[in-house]
Amino acid sequence: LRVAVLFGGQSTEHEVSIMSARNVIKAIDGGKYEVVPTLIDRAGRWLLVEARDGLLPEPIAYEGTEVCLVAGGKGRLMALEGVSARELPDIDVLFPVLHGLNGEDGSIQGLAQIVGVPLVGCGILGSANAIDKDMAKRLLREAGLPVARSVTLQRGDIQSFDNITSTLGSPVFVKPTRQGSSVGVSKVHDAGQFESALAEAFRHDRKVLVEEFVRAREIECAVLEQLDGTVFVSVPGEIAAAEAHGFYSYEAKYLDQDGAVITVPADIPAETADALKRMAAEGFRALGCEGLARVDFFVRPDLSVVINEINTMPGFTNISMYPKAMGASGISYPELVDRLIEHGLV
Ligand code: DAL
Ligand code: MG
Repeated sequence: LRVAVLFGGQSTEHEVSIMSARNVIKAIDGGKYEVVPTLIDRAGRWLLVEARDGLLPEPIAYEGTEVCLVAGGKGRLMALEGVSARELPDIDVLFPVLHGLNGEDGSIQGLAQIVGVPLVGCGILGSANAIDKDMAKRLLREAGLPVARSVTLQRGDIQSFDNITSTLGSPVFVKPTRQGSSVGVSKVHDAGQFESALAEAFRHDRKVLVEEFVRAREIECAVLEQLDGTVFVSVPGEIAAAEAHGFYSYEAKYLDQDGAVITVPADIPAETADALKRMAAEGFRALGCEGLARVDFFVRPDLSVVINEINTMPGFTNISMYPKAMGASGISYPELVDRLIEHGLV
């Protein structure tokens, strides 16, 4: 069986996706699956790259046969280069190890559906629901799940900082609604910062969420849908961003070796852990997710909880919570990847 692992992509999380794909490709059982590593460069070109013994080249070279995905018996990669366009073998399943725009938002999922190739992870609707923090909150609220208070602003909406803080308090978080890895996110304490935070967030999206600051611990659960449709939820894990970063920013996540401390399982009472696991499964269902997701919570000192967000292609980097939490719950990295691919094939 041939698995095309898509990685890179045109989103702001291009580098994160490469880090994730290195680990995923390394963990795929080479005896069972033939991996076709497919790099999407920043211009959107699909390039076939070679993995040797399951390892992607380090650093990644942006070269290789340029291909596109076309409909075949299954999906088919077709070479674009040269006069005698070489047809490549059918693909049995696509594994989009892509974060953010075009990868985690329903777009690639739509392409897979049109072409008729099975896909690992969430489909169009679950992906689109989860990537949009504004829409996701509406659905979670509707399912009776707790979320932080927020105001959604469209480009052109005028809102004074005083007006916002009179309902949300201060500080607030300003977030583009459809970005991952905290790209474009700011914590804001005054009107001056608010202006620049909005400008920064609107650079990334035309819809921005202003959210109350929840003084809380960040605790996450990994969700894996099983072949029979039931969901397995991992033990919760905790992320503590280093004080210097103020919050779990892009820098704290990927650029600073000591940017955060990850503890799995999180040190919380058993009843809280059970409540989080139940809410993770309910949130997964509320958004229409499939295959996998990581559900991120804020847990306040009084142990009350809100769901911060749900990621449908969570990071698989060395520091990432999804594989760590699964590992701590008895599902090793290779087994996890195998189960995801199996799920994609059904
Ligand atoms: N968006 C990043 C990859 C995550 O949620 O892990
Ligand atoms: Mg996230």
